[in-house]
Amino acid sequence: MTMEFTWIDIPTVNDPRGNLAILEKGVIPFDFKRVFYLFDVPSGSSRGGHALKTTNQLLIPISGSFDVVLKNGSDTQTMALNSPTKGLLIPTMTWREMHHFSAGAVCLVLASKTYQEEDYIRDWNTFTAVTGQR
Ligand code: TYD
Repeated sequence: MTMEFTWIDIPTVNDPRGNLAILEKGVIPFDFKRVFYLFDVPSGSSRGGHALKTTNQLLIPISGSFDVVLKNGSDTQTMALNSPTKGLLIPTMTWREMHHFSAGAVCLVLASKTYQEEDYIRDWNTFTAVTGQR
């Protein structure tokens, strides 16, 4: 099973006064119902470690950098997120882990659904059982 993920180029107005990136309906291939962000992540700490059954997410490193590991049960890919104008679209039923946060990194997440714990698969063995892969 090939890994599905998409980079999204975030429209940006570059200006000597500072740049401005715009997240607007139409640029992102889902209607977002929730925005949250990870910040003050201690050096060496990892986040994620779950898959979402029906929620799409767009991850944007609005400050600093971090790595995202995506697994679909058979393939693993590691993506470096380091540009505030490039977001990573993670589809449903994709296991994700975030590692190697730089000092001051902020991970902005746009989600297609409001928070529901029932949408999470937080156990790797359950995930591989559901995806039928190992
Ligand atoms: P968690 O999913 O472990 O964060 P991450 O994947 O970024 O490492 O979430 C941490 C806690 O926050 C957990 O108890 C669930 C809660 N939470 C909410 O209440 N609402 C939300 O929108 C999110 C993303 C998490």
